[in-house]
Amino acid sequence: MSALKARSSSREFGADPIPPQTLSNLLWAAWGINRPDGRRTAPSASNRQEIDVYVTLPAGAYLWDAKANVLNPVAPGDHRAATGTQPFPAAAALNLVYVADMTKLNRPATDPQQMLNVGADAGFIAENVYLFCASEGLATVVRASVDKAALAKILQLRETQVIVLAQTVGVPKK
Ligand SMILES: Cc1cc2nc3c(=O)[nH]c(=O)nc-3n(C[C@H](O)[C@H](O)[C@H](O)COP(=O)(O)O)c2cc1C
Repeated sequence: MSALKARSSSREFGADPIPPQTLSNLLWAAWGINRPDGRRTAPSASNRQEIDVYVTLPAGAYLWDAKANVLNPVAPGDHRAATGTQPFPAAAALNLVYVADMTKLNRPATDPQQMLNVGADAGFIAENVYLFCASEGLATVVRASVDKAALAKILQLRETQVIVLAQTVGVPKK
């Protein structure tokens, strides 16, 4: 109840990094494996688990491997600004980028329900992040406003991968 009460979007971030253990917990809360059969902290349509979480930190962009709980480097350098069209993603500790692997879905690409499911699946992850941030006193905002073509290039996405949403996370501005 406390986390739900505190859940809100913030666009005012301090520059401090988030401790590694908190980042690890954040990612697990977002989309971690919470059952022996590999299911996750968020639901997904037909359990397709098509969303991948990319993370932009000052040192680089990474793809999170939920099974190994490892951030695999995809692009060195600071790409935080490239995850958004607003100024604050560049200043916050990190940005999450929710990317759908369309090859994992069971409906044809022309089925409009497919994109609705993808949006819903990313939305559940985003809400987990909102509630985690509320419980940890972190600031966050989910964002659709992303230059997807530019970011896809940086993240070296395949044509079958679609950027759905990004989410900025950081310490609140003092
Ligand atoms: C799908 C979606 C896309 C959003 N895109 C943006 C965005 O691009 N930039 C932004 O600053 N906020 C974005 N928001 C945050 C909303 O503006 C925010 O949730 C809304 O104003 C309500 O505020 P609250 O989250 O504090 O309740 C988005 C929210 C959702 C659910």
